[in-house]
Amino acid sequence: MRELLLKALVCENKGRKPVWIMRQAGRFLPEYRALREKHTLSEMFFDRDLIVKTTLLPIEAIDPDAAILFSDILIVAKMLGLHLTFEEGRGPVVSPLLRTKEDVIKLKNIPCLDFIGDAVSDLRCKLTVPLIGFCGGPFTVASYLIEEKHSHDLPLTKKWMYRDPKSFHLLLEKITEATLSYLAMLIEKGVQAVQIFESFAHVLSKTHLWEFSFPYMKRIAEFVKKKNLSVILFMRNSCLFAEDLASLSPDAISFDWQKPLFEMRRVLPRHIAIQGNFDPHLLFASQDTIRKTVREALQPMDQDPGYIVNLGHGILPETPVENVKCFIQTIREACE
Ligand code: CP3
Repeated sequence: MRELLLKALVCENKGRKPVWIMRQAGRFLPEYRALREKHTLSEMFFDRDLIVKTTLLPIEAIDPDAAILFSDILIVAKMLGLHLTFEEGRGPVVSPLLRTKEDVIKLKNIPCLDFIGDAVSDLRCKLTVPLIGFCGGPFTVASYLIEEKHSHDLPLTKKWMYRDPKSFHLLLEKITEATLSYLAMLIEKGVQAVQIFESFAHVLSKTHLWEFSFPYMKRIAEFVKKKNLSVILFMRNSCLFAEDLASLSPDAISFDWQKPLFEMRRVLPRHIAIQGNFDPHLLFASQDTIRKTVREALQPMDQDPGYIVNLGHGILPETPVENVKCFIQTIREACE
């Protein structure tokens, strides 16, 4: 087992820097696009063998130091008793969408995702790099259970939050409970670290982050840590909230590209690992630019035992695979 990622997560990595890429199991890979010609997205997310196959695609194609389970943050909607499909060109569609307090009260917590646990067991037999499991942050998941057309300012979600904070908290509570059951299952089956994607919390003010996002992320993080696994927090604009995120006591924080990581290191305690933070658009530059940018960014992080190389957000679907290989190769050479 290549343990670089697990060591970096506890800030004890003395070897080369581990690298993996958010959304590595996705559309930038020709092998993924070929699978998608044969299967609908719903088939891919709900079939044990296809989950295994898709998770392994980037491992074979680009040799990252970790695998991330091929699934989606919205899968938890199924446990809440909602209908979930993935539609061409539209992404996840949840029905019925939530509109009232009564809708929230009716939500359930039914374990129904055993096929994902089975895929995790299969993957552990096949992988020689650690397997990352993940979940959505409750605020982000809530927005997908409410919005008709998901947009960046989340109008229906925020109106509900202001109008009736009590039932909004009940919703976050129910999503958190279902998420904890789901993660318990993934952990029991063998995922080796967990990342929480609170991707849309950046629409909240700091006061509202502390009311509607951070306490729920903290509960999930504490739960994962109690199971002796490392937990990574991701949110957009994480550079602006480094100290707040650190106070939730995660093992690692994933940063986007607004600030250089050595600046983030200055404000973070030594025992919290740092993940990130290349701009996904860098991978459209010339390979000379990719090499130069990577070397320059890695140099100040060279001695950091808690640094995990990644992009600042998911890889873009049109990214040339050759450039991804160049990116990973440069990281390996820089760390030799
Ligand atoms: O990182 C990985 O490779 C693992 C798999 C993964 C997927 N979704 C697969 C997927 C992960 C970690 C996610 C997280 C996710 N899903 C987030 C949070 C992360 C982030 O990027 O901020 C969100 C907001 C979602 C919800 C979602 N799922 C959307 C908005 C869409 C459609 C648009 C899009 O980005 O593709 C999906 C579908 C989805 N989930 C795809 C994949 C590979 C696209 C599949 C396809 O069209 O073939």
